[in-house]
Amino acid sequence: MKRVLLTGAGGGIGKRMRRELSGAYPILRVSDLTDLGPAADGEEIVVGDICDPGDRARMVDGVDGIIHLGGLSVENPWEDILRVNIDGTYRLYEAAFEAGVKRIVFASSNHAVGFYPRGHMLDGTERPRPDCRYGLSKVFGEGLSQYFADNYGIGILSVRIGWCFAKPETQRQLGCWVSIGDLTRLCRLGLEIPELHHEIVYGVSDNSRTWWDNSTARRLGFTPQDTADVWIPEVDASDVPEPGNEVALGVQGGPFASTEYQGDPGRVVPAKR
Ligand SMILES: NC(=O)c1ccc[n+]([C@@H]2O[C@H](COP(=O)([O-])OP(=O)(O)OC[C@H]3O[C@@H](n4cnc5c(N)ncnc54)[C@H](O)[C@@H]3O)[C@@H](O)[C@H]2O)c1
Repeated sequence: MKRVLLTGAGGGIGKRMRRELSGAYPILRVSDLTDLGPAADGEEIVVGDICDPGDRARMVDGVDGIIHLGGLSVENPWEDILRVNIDGTYRLYEAAFEAGVKRIVFASSNHAVGFYPRGHMLDGTERPRPDCRYGLSKVFGEGLSQYFADNYGIGILSVRIGWCFAKPETQRQLGCWVSIGDLTRLCRLGLEIPELHHEIVYGVSDNSRTWWDNSTARRLGFTPQDTADVWIPEVDASDVPEPGNEVALGVQGGPFASTEYQGDPGRVVPAKR
């Protein structure tokens, strides 16, 4: 990998991953809608919109691999999800293929499977259960990744990111927290391992309260170096209520799952897969 594109480089994860990736590749091209400040050594900057054909072409030109973080990262109206996360991601993959890109790491989300009950172990082979329109767009992105691997020969790693913020503050986050270091290491594997078709893995650190069996990631060489467990005493002792209604408290996606839920909460959580 000589030149790697990081989309969404101005976002919460992107800003930190940009720092983590400093020096990892000869050229890191950082891109976002927003101003990204001056280029550091070894960096190129492309400010642009993945929904704009000219901007996309400038983003992918001469690139070997892409870490695709850019897009809407929470629930939004359908028109926006469709335009940015669905059409924008499809068009970015299309442009990447035309530019000869060999690898893509797709920032998927736990919300692709957010309607599974808590405690139900998932390993990436289960059928999707998106918990919102945003989660549905991530299911689309995983399908798109499979299609571009099968039909166009691009090696793609879909990473269902858990909770990538400074530290976990709720019981749910103790299960799905991922450090920026672990997430960056996992994304780098997606770009660098010699053989890759398409795999779905979980972006999660080594947390004892996880609901995810990440053996596919481990098989690819991922060894998480951080754990949410150091915050267990603090979170267990905290009386800050977890957000969301009784649906949110029962499912892996938490509050994303319940904002518009109209049904009987008892029917959301089947005993078995
Ligand atoms: N933060 C998490 O814990 C988490 C969990 C699961 C998945 N993810 C995924 O990881 C990625 C990064 O998440 P984040 O928390 O940093 O989100 P974020 O919202 O902070 O950053 C997303 C970035 O994408 C950019 N963007 C939005 N629309 C764009 C467009 N049309 N063209 C170009 N850039 C555009 C935004 O300007 C923003 O800087 C997202 O794809 C998100 O869905 C994050």
